[in-house]
Parts: sequence; structure tokens; C-alpha cells
Amino acid sequence: MTRHFLTDLDLSPAEQAEVLDLAAAMKADRYGYRTYAASGHASKTVAVIFDKTSTRTRVSFAAGVADLGGNPLIINPGESQIGHKESVADTARVLERMVHTIVWRTYAQAGLEEMARFSSVPVINALSDDYHPCQLLADLLTVREHCGRTAGLTLAYLGDAANNMANSYLLAGVNAGMHVRVAGPEGYLPDEAIVAAARERAQATGGSVLVTTSAAEALDGADVLATDTWVSMGQEDEKADRAEVFRPYAIDEAALAAAAPGAIVLHCLPAYRGYEISAGVIDGPQSVVWDEAENRLHAQKAIMHWLMDASGLIDAPGSSS
Ligand code: CP
Repeated sequence: MTRHFLTDLDLSPAEQAEVLDLAAAMKADRYGYRTYAASGHASKTVAVIFDKTSTRTRVSFAAGVADLGGNPLIINPGESQIGHKESVADTARVLERMVHTIVWRTYAQAGLEEMARFSSVPVINALSDDYHPCQLLADLLTVREHCGRTAGLTLAYLGDAANNMANSYLLAGVNAGMHVRVAGPEGYLPDEAIVAAARERAQATGGSVLVTTSAAEALDGADVLATDTWVSMGQEDEKADRAEVFRPYAIDEAALAAAAPGAIVLHCLPAYRGYEISAGVIDGPQSVVWDEAENRLHAQKAIMHWLMDASGLIDAPGSSS
């Protein structure tokens, strides 16, 4: 059966830990894995499709596929027929005949689910309106590196708690056994279905979920602080209004002082200094955002390799390591 990575809960807690272990091993041996090497000098191809702009995701997938002996086929916004001239299902039927993995940054989660339904090769969510699961693998790898573990730690996410990053922090965080607190203003809190799914998974891992409008309640003694832009792609017209409503949820020096001593600070980037995070915090000693950005490369190589392996699609001799 082909395995896909469409939401953070597509990996069980044990599988998520396996992927993070693999990411750490790949980071220690960057060119040691040949997942996409084919026989002779040939390379397998990974289609990396963008309906929205990107720096980190685009570069980390392109470099990661090349590291794994493959050929990254980057399709930029506006360069394909998907969704306007051709259905997602027909696109999947064509791509699966030509490529070995499909990575897609798009809007609707339903589009990714349809792509996966019609694809016999793994489909990976490179960000949708609902989730950013590849980012969370990188974030968890970074937490492991700096804190030595994930289970039992408290992660506080502040800001737009209704966006894709908040959803993924809830799901991936509890999957890793973390106590996840999300804080945002009324009207910008996560959907009840996401909270319920996170609470259910937390019962199996020892994690927990807190949703609050109080930044202070979320920050109190937290080990890991995280935020995201207050203005996601497509919301640019609302910038002034959103800056006003999210102001009490900024991660600044006062917020950091309310967290545990030595707490680390995550931001998926791009960051807007003076808005969701202060310059002093993101450029300060407790920020780990550059490690987090680098870890996109290692985490995504690991999930690509893991999905190919779990789907029985690695076939070149000696290609698994
Ligand atoms: N964090 C993130 O996904 O960055 P890009 O939008 O630049 O890919």
C-alpha cells in the first residue's frame, strides 16, 4: 500500500519517531542515502509543485531530492494545468506514470487528498490551508537537538491559532508527546475538530492540549515558544487589522521572560520583526530558527525516504543507505 504524508497524524507516534531518527542520521551523513537512485547512472524524479510562493520548501526539496540521488522537477505557480485546465485526479493519473513522489504546496487540503487517492506514488503536503506537516518534522528535530527530547516538554504557540501552523503544532506536537498550548484572540482559535483529534492522540502519547485566549497562560513556564506570521498568504489586504488584533500575542522579550529559563524559540519563517516576533528575540541567543530552517532539508529527506521504503518503492541495490 502506498503511504502518503498529508497531515501530521498520517504518522503514528512510533513512525514519527522513526522519521526523526532517520532525519538525524541523514543530517550526520548528508550524501549517504540513495533513495532515488535508479540502476546505472539514472535518477528517479520527484515532482515538486507550487501553487504558492516559497523559499525554504522549494530549496530544501530541490536540494534534498538531489542529495538522495534523484531529479527534482520543480513546477512553479502558474506553470501547470492542475486545477484550472485539468482535474487533480487526471493530473495524478499522469504524474504517477512519470515520477516517483509528488510534493505539492497548494490551497485546499481536499486537493491533496484527491491527488493521493489517484496516485500510486507517495504524495507529500508541502503546505496547505490546513496543515504544514513537513515544517513540523523540522521543528521537532530542532527541539530534539536543543532539548534532548520532545516528550513531556511544553510548547506554546502564540498568534493566529486558527492557521495551518497552529493546527500542525497541535497534531504533531501531541504525537511527539508534548504538552501543546495555543493562544490567540477570540475568532482566531483552532477548529474544534482539530482540537478533538489532538486530544485523542494525546491520550496515547501522554501529551496534552490547552487552547486559550490568554498569552500569559500559554507562556507560563513553557520550554518551547513558537509563532508564525500574522498575515498568511492571501491575507495581505487584512494586514493592518490583523496587526492590531494579534499584538498581545507577540513573542517579545516580555513573553520570553514568562517562559522557562533557557526556553527555545521557533519560527517557521519568513518572519516580520516587530510584529509576531521582536528583533531581539529572533536574533537573540534563545532563537533556534536557523537550525529549524536547515532542518527542513534533513526532515524532508527522511520523510521522502521513509514513505518510499514503507510503500515498497525503493528498488536500487544498496539504495537504502
Ligand atoms: N516555512 C516555509 O514553509 O517557508 P517557505 O514558505 O519559504 O517555503
